[in-house]
Amino acid sequence: MNEVLKTIKNRRSVRHYSSEQICQESLDLILDAGGYAPSAHNQQTWHFTVIQNQKLLEHINETVRREMAGSEVEWIRKMGSNPDFLVTYNAPTLIIVSGRTDGIAWAADCAAAIQNMLLAAESLDIGSVWLGLLRFFFEEKKNKDLLGIPDGYEPYYGVSFGYKVKDKIPVVPKRNLDVVNYIR
Ligand SMILES: Cc1cc2nc3c(=O)[nH]c(=O)nc-3n(C[C@H](O)[C@H](O)[C@H](O)COP(=O)(O)O)c2cc1C
Repeated sequence: MNEVLKTIKNRRSVRHYSSEQICQESLDLILDAGGYAPSAHNQQTWHFTVIQNQKLLEHINETVRREMAGSEVEWIRKMGSNPDFLVTYNAPTLIIVSGRTDGIAWAADCAAAIQNMLLAAESLDIGSVWLGLLRFFFEEKKNKDLLGIPDGYEPYYGVSFGYKVKDKIPVVPKRNLDVVNYIR
């Protein structure tokens, strides 16, 4: 199997991180990979906010936990009621991917950028996990303002990055590959 295919198959959502910060050189490579994603009409509608400030990360984790604890959805409320729950899994780097909402396919552009960054991270032996639950932070305007998201952009998803804790190997969730219909 070639290196690209190996990276695709080895990438896992990592939920245990070392507190050591990832090096700037790797972070630059990850961001660069994000910027090389395909985008509709080459509009490149993404914007990346890199958060490495521990106080802000703690604030985000606390806010998300509190909001989730008040959710009407049982599984979300249960997660948020666990005092140990950290939406970012205590990773030292969080990247918020925002999209320029006047783009013709900004959500797809941003998703492509995220996947490029996840794969770039794996290729550098850096762990990552895509974070949908951050929406509990994005919902309030004052939180978006705190992140300094540029005008015209909406925060879409976040991704945690950090070195993997080697003795916490993620399980490989079972894949359903029976999703192909050939028309020949
Ligand atoms: C749109 C999206 C949102 C996700 N949100 C979360 C999240 O908030 N927290 C989390 O731990 N994992 C999240 N994940 C990761 C998935 O749980 C994970 O990709 C899936 O279980 C398959 O595991 P794998 O990534 O190791 O292959 C998200 C993935 C996607 C694509």
